[in-house]
Amino acid sequence: METQQYTIEELLSNAVALSHKETDLICLLSNLSALIKATLCDTNWVGFYQLKQDELVLGPFQGLPACTRIPLNKGVCGQAASTLCSMRIDNVHLFPGHIACDSASNSELVLCIIVNKTCWGVLDCDSASFNRFSPTDQEILEQLCLWLGIFIEQLSQ
Ligand code: SME
Repeated sequence: METQQYTIEELLSNAVALSHKETDLICLLSNLSALIKATLCDTNWVGFYQLKQDELVLGPFQGLPACTRIPLNKGVCGQAASTLCSMRIDNVHLFPGHIACDSASNSELVLCIIVNKTCWGVLDCDSASFNRFSPTDQEILEQLCLWLGIFIEQLSQ
């Protein structure tokens, strides 16, 4: 298994440091996807989808090329975006409607990014291992997405 560059607990402070004086969202999300992938060992895909007119559209990511558009309610990402709930899936093959962008993925963690009280998009993390994501991973990434939502809100003011 690849080694972890940073601890998951350091993730939020590293993300805040990366965002310092940055006002371009694509630039920040690109670096964040790289930071999260480097922090979470044993992940094969980490990236963002932005909700645009009832579809999640692929944003900055690390990993193999992925599905570019996911309708609301479809797949793990579409379900997270329509329910505003995190989805921690230990075995994606048992999830009805899972969208297999990378056939190597076996578990997945999807978190919502809320801006102005509505879903802006999601952060999607995939692993080739089953049961890869822990409740602690989920909690810390939820905090990161909470901070990111506020950051995006402030950028658009
Ligand atoms: N597996 C996701 C699709 C996105 S990719 O994993 C990058 C889903 O079911 O929504």
